[in-house]
Amino acid sequence: MNNRPSTDLWGVAEAYEGYMGRWSRGIAPLFTAWLAPEPGRNWVDLGCGTGALSACVSHTCRPGSLLGLDTSEGFLAYAAGQVPGAAFRVGDAADTHLPSGGFDYAVSGLVLNFVPDPARALREMARLVRPGGRVALYVWDYAGQMQIMRHFFDAARPIDPGSVAFDDGVRAPVCRPGPLRAALTGAGLEDVEVTALDLPAAFDSFEAYWAPFLGGTGSAPKYCASLDPQVRERIRQAVRAALPTGPDGEILLAVRAWAAKGTVRP
Ligand SMILES: C[S@@+](CC[C@H](N)C(=O)[O-])C[C@H]1O[C@@H](n2cnc3c(N)ncnc32)[C@H](O)[C@@H]1O
Repeated sequence: MNNRPSTDLWGVAEAYEGYMGRWSRGIAPLFTAWLAPEPGRNWVDLGCGTGALSACVSHTCRPGSLLGLDTSEGFLAYAAGQVPGAAFRVGDAADTHLPSGGFDYAVSGLVLNFVPDPARALREMARLVRPGGRVALYVWDYAGQMQIMRHFFDAARPIDPGSVAFDDGVRAPVCRPGPLRAALTGAGLEDVEVTALDLPAAFDSFEAYWAPFLGGTGSAPKYCASLDPQVRERIRQAVRAALPTGPDGEILLAVRAWAAKGTVRP
């Protein structure tokens, strides 16, 4: 299902931060609180991007060491500026070339559905962690309560059925609790748990909601950039009509991630 090249989607760190990174930064502390890690441990953050999860680990989990890997050099440079205590390197989440068992925690935020082979990436995460260590991650609930993107694609589809090629609510079946649990179990992890992490998202105007869709970084912004301006305008009007907007113009939406964690077999 996932045959769109992920590396085409990413690159401009500031655009990513405005579109998705800001919400990942909100979810990350909920995720690490749920993981309840021990201090002084060695962490690897796969697909660390601009450093949303790495920054949270660095600030709240008292790591002994923290390594972030990503395929985007632009994102890594941004992350390094945000998290001075961590190391950041170019690397493929599914094939890191790192030694086995060198970490206590292998984590990733919003990455699993963008790697070409999620099962392989999960096996790699499990390989990197010592016996008894933890593998943990989160992904957006694209098909449900990640309402920022859900409203966009639900409004776009009747105007342009081709929009489904960019809709991770359709393209990424792993981003649901059942398949996510099965994926971690399939990677040999034990005591697998899955939970919903929820955050409110407030936009003080439609313009504040819409502007990040024009940044060109991420699935919906890439889709927007590919459109004829007239089609994009029709979609903009349809999204505007569909969004729950208060009398003061404020748009209040839900943002949900599914988080999963498991233990590497002792
Ligand atoms: C949605 S962003 C998430 C970034 C960050 N973890 C966060 O929570 O904001 C997805 C990230 O995965 C990275 N990525 C995609 N495929 C990858 C791969 N095979 N190996 C490593 N990183 C990858 C992208 O470059 C991008 O930074």
